[in-house]
Amino acid sequence: MSRHVRTLVLVFSLLLVSPPWTLAGYQQHPPSKPILARLTKDPSTSLYTISIKYGGAPLVVDLAGPLLWTRCPPVHRTIPCRSSVCRVANRNHPASCAYTSGGQPGSTDRYCVCTAYPYNPVTGQCGHADATTVTLSASATDGKNPLFPVSFYAVGSCAPDGPLTSLTSGAAGVAGLSRLPLSLPSQVASTLKVAKEFALCLPGGGDSGAAIFGGGPFQLLAAPPVELAEGLRKDPLPLLKNPMNGAYYFRVIGVAVNLVRVPLPRRALDLNARRGTGGVTLSTVTPYTTLRSDIYRPLRKAFDAATSGIPRAAPVKPFDMCYQASALGSTRLGFAVANIDLMLDGGRNWTLPGGSSLVQVNEQTVCFAFLEMGSTTVVPGSPAVILGGFQLENHLLLFNLEKGTLGFSGLLAGIRTGCSNFNFTMGTS
Ligand SMILES: *[C@@H]1O[C@H](CO)[C@@H](O)[C@H](O)[C@H]1NC(C)=O
Ligand SMILES: *[C@@H]1O[C@H](CO)[C@@H](O)[C@H](O)[C@H]1NC(C)=O
Repeated sequence: MSRHVRTLVLVFSLLLVSPPWTLAGYQQHPPSKPILARLTKDPSTSLYTISIKYGGAPLVVDLAGPLLWTRCPPVHRTIPCRSSVCRVANRNHPASCAYTSGGQPGSTDRYCVCTAYPYNPVTGQCGHADATTVTLSASATDGKNPLFPVSFYAVGSCAPDGPLTSLTSGAAGVAGLSRLPLSLPSQVASTLKVAKEFALCLPGGGDSGAAIFGGGPFQLLAAPPVELAEGLRKDPLPLLKNPMNGAYYFRVIGVAVNLVRVPLPRRALDLNARRGTGGVTLSTVTPYTTLRSDIYRPLRKAFDAATSGIPRAAPVKPFDMCYQASALGSTRLGFAVANIDLMLDGGRNWTLPGGSSLVQVNEQTVCFAFLEMGSTTVVPGSPAVILGGFQLENHLLLFNLEKGTLGFSGLLAGIRTGCSNFNFTMGTS
């Protein structure tokens, strides 16, 4: 940054009479309602984006991300080091990122500008840049339609120079949705005074899905339309915390294929909270569910055996087990193959039917949509299983950050709807 621009930045931050992060409820219509934003999937990178930035390009959704970051103009709002939010921005610094000198809370320099540490979840690269305030915009919603526009400020980070900007083309940055205090759902809850809960319905390629922050109903068009949130709130799964990061984990006690338990090493799926390793986590930046080798190999073997009658096709990268599409039957829940059950406490399952376990890669070929964790995969905290984007698509996921719970719907095709069925026509409030 040139000396001249640096001076302008400082002058601009000093001109802010009232720091924007104290303007709770800025521009909102009372009473507070949950807000709705559109999600899309970029078919070339398999990343999901959220349209939440005021007048700007969408942001990549990172379910485990600690903060928001986006490209800033040379002259942008900054945050003083002595503000309490600077302490929060510093504390939620990814473990793998080195601190830089300067920009730290507690500085005695009254012109000190707070530094934040944005992280590229796709490449695993860290950087540092000015903490700033970002103007976000979305629609208030009754859970059925958008109602009216709402804009508000959130604390975020500028994008650092260089390789961090290599995200999907057309994205302006990253929106972190983790349980940490500067994530998008945490800031929406505190700024707009709505419930600390969000609903995520990820679309498949080419479609639009929806996210609702702040609780309330979540309705999808079907014949007749279905409200799903109330039912999901009745019997959610407890989320587990990994003290090393803000990602969402849940307890899985076993894996079964075609109702037969897959033999796995003892405690293979457990989260080691002390070391922050292992466990089953959810990710929107991992395109396909990725499993540690000691889990992937027995699962692949069991699925191979359960589908032994189906003619194979040459593997298509990155997958290693593929089938001839013409040989597969189909059901409402996708290709007709054995189910995979992630066995949960209390005898429940997170079931992956053919629509979630097999992906069509070209006209002739369908592949087993799971990957073995390898040295090339970006895996902060080295979990045992990362439930990836393809397996989360067309499910309604309801994260309650107050209670630490996750409601999940199962594949929505089972009730003849999907995430692209949110009605984005403006409704009347
Ligand atoms: C959960 O999955 C296991 C293994 O496939 C199966 O035995 C059990 O019946 C399933 N439970 C329910 C409630 O469907
Ligand atoms: C979508 O919402 C609008 C506004 O509430 C409504 O008029 C329309 O009938 C809805 N569309 C469908 C297909 O139900």
